[in-house]
Amino acid sequence: MIDKATVRRIIDTADIVEVVGDYVHLTKRGSNYMGLCPFHNEKTPSFSVNRQRNICKCFSCGKGGSPVNFIMEKEGVNYHDALVHLAKKYGIKIEEREQTDEERLQQSQRESMLVVNEWAMQRMEHNLTETDEGRNVGLQYLYQRGITAEAIKKFRLGYAIDKGQDLYDQAVKEGYDVQTLKDVGLCGESQQGRYYDRFRGRVIFPALNPAGKVIAFGGRGIKGEAAKYINSPESLIYRKSNELYGIYQAKNSIVRQDKCFLVEGYMDVIGMWQAGMENVVASSGTSLTDGQIALIHRFTENVTLIYDGDSAGIKASLRGIDLLLSHNLNIKVLLLPEGEDPDSFSQKHTPEEFRQYVEQNETDFIIFKTNVLLKGSGNDPDKRSQAVRSIVKSLASISDMIKRSVYIQECSRLLNIPENVLIMQVKQARGEVVEEMRKKREYERIEADNTQVSVEDEIVEAIKTKPDTTTPQVQEDKFAHILRPLERNVIKYCVRYGMLDYGDEVDTDGNMRDIKVYDVVRNEMEADDMLELRTPIYQRIFDRILDMVPEYQQRRNEYMDSINDDLQEVFNQGLDKIASRQLTMDEIIREEEALKAEIMEMRHQKEVQFDKLYIGRLLSNDPDDELRHEVIEMINEKYTLSKYHTKNTKVEDESERLMDLVPRALDEWKDGVLLVKLKEAQSQLKDAVASSNHEQTMAIMEYMQRITEWRREFAKQIGERIILPKR
Ligand code: CTP
Ligand code: MN
Repeated sequence: MIDKATVRRIIDTADIVEVVGDYVHLTKRGSNYMGLCPFHNEKTPSFSVNRQRNICKCFSCGKGGSPVNFIMEKEGVNYHDALVHLAKKYGIKIEEREQTDEERLQQSQRESMLVVNEWAMQRMEHNLTETDEGRNVGLQYLYQRGITAEAIKKFRLGYAIDKGQDLYDQAVKEGYDVQTLKDVGLCGESQQGRYYDRFRGRVIFPALNPAGKVIAFGGRGIKGEAAKYINSPESLIYRKSNELYGIYQAKNSIVRQDKCFLVEGYMDVIGMWQAGMENVVASSGTSLTDGQIALIHRFTENVTLIYDGDSAGIKASLRGIDLLLSHNLNIKVLLLPEGEDPDSFSQKHTPEEFRQYVEQNETDFIIFKTNVLLKGSGNDPDKRSQAVRSIVKSLASISDMIKRSVYIQECSRLLNIPENVLIMQVKQARGEVVEEMRKKREYERIEADNTQVSVEDEIVEAIKTKPDTTTPQVQEDKFAHILRPLERNVIKYCVRYGMLDYGDEVDTDGNMRDIKVYDVVRNEMEADDMLELRTPIYQRIFDRILDMVPEYQQRRNEYMDSINDDLQEVFNQGLDKIASRQLTMDEIIREEEALKAEIMEMRHQKEVQFDKLYIGRLLSNDPDDELRHEVIEMINEKYTLSKYHTKNTKVEDESERLMDLVPRALDEWKDGVLLVKLKEAQSQLKDAVASSNHEQTMAIMEYMQRITEWRREFAKQIGERIILPKR
């Protein structure tokens, strides 16, 4: 933990031109610097560095960001290490921060959980090979499935004794904390308050994180139980969506081979490992998440997905891959012969045969998809255009522009569509895809936050076992797409201009005070509780802005103090100059007035400059990855002048039109909120009418009436605050 003050010092000190300059030869072009992009190969410079905003960006591949971002990407390190890197460059001494009590508590909780898991893993390993029950039931099963003793050791497989409290009793005897046993999901508590082992009579597959710590267990039933697998619940140490089974055993090989195989389950990983393919991990039956992809990306960019070769497998292989493409991974697909999974296939073939099969059959994903869809659509024009649309979407998901254009070329040939037509379509789809990805990522995060399931719930769930319970269904907010861009627009102005003076506000008591852009937005939100940010990322950004206000004021004062000294110096020099000229008294007074006005204007400019850059500079260095990216996108967005404005010679800066833009953004948002409310009510009304539920129909109509009243009320509240333009 680096203490906050040091983080600030590093962020304030790191100059993007200097930081990038360590890697790229930069030349000045207007107010920017340009160079060859260090993230992809190119011959003409498209990497642009903006010193004032302290950010960089490649206009070709899109990579870049703040100094911290740049170092993270370039050096392949995390946020903390990027700060350390920059600190070293600038000779800033790092004070690692003392943890807060809360953090220390969490840390020690986490450690206790890892310790108890490690103990349990060792005990279950022991059960498997050193007890009669383990040998007769567990080991017998594994051998019968063709798993070798070597693999059992490597993957730390174990066995849970088939007794109510075997593990629990032993843990308590050895002094482990009961709450911790419950927290990691090794034990549960019945309604009568009795403790029991959650894993009983099962073969145990421990999941290790990249550091080799046991974070979860999967227990496979042996006797044809309804729940084939019981898995550890989510906990402080286990976020299912961020982990991959086998990563610890595979990571070195993934790096060495610069490639990762992705399979479905525990048995597949082990089977392939036995066939000599060590660079293999499993998503454990769920569809891939961003977190898992990020984990793979730490080790390689090349991923081969392995599927069963029947029609279900082929279908599955086409699903969800666009997400991988959006992460700039190179994706290949390998279909196994029909009816085989990696486990069974590796049992039937020698490692040499397996390797040959991979070489001959793995296909680039886009090409694979194009061929499959082409074959499937035959001469049916409807199917064909559907296929093209789907391929266009995949192409649009590739975030690397160069790669994208290579694929477009190839697909244009395969599909027999002129390249420029395809380019147009992909370009169109790109915007939608980016927005969709963003949305998807958000839902995944919400999911992860809500997954604290109680042990009981999980057991009930496991007993019911529908085969598909491992894939959580995301309930999409039907109208999110209406509100999202409207909220974004409002927040964008806060990020870009939040600390700029907006005007003076006269409150209901008749007092007048300065307000800033963020004040305007906050006031509007407070004026009506209907107006809340529904999109979590925008709420987070706005919270961050409000949080920074006290420190902002202090730092601004400090900054203005330091400026004052400089200005005083300029003023004194000006006075000297005036004094050295032969002027009349009147002339001297006039000159001095002019000088004073000039200094005031300089001071004002400095102030505006400071306010303008404050929020963006801080947030574009935030530790929250998603937030940082979103903010940088907002900062980078070009302000497009309307035709009217460009025709008129005076090109106004966006920041000079805030009085016009901000209220408009707010009004549009309000409108959207009301629209959504009405739409929701309307669809309810339709249902109520259809089922001739008179009572409900009346209630909904009353509600719609109320929305209309709110709207009036709302308008009145806005009227009460008069905003005067500042000179
Ligand atoms: N899985 C799970 N819970 C289930 C079913 C499956 O967690 N109820 C996960 C496990 O990680 C499993 C993977 O999904 O490894 C793939 O499922 P499946 O193919 O059914 O299991 P295998 O491990 O391949 O087992 P087997 O070969 O014995 O059928
Ligand atoms: Mn399987």
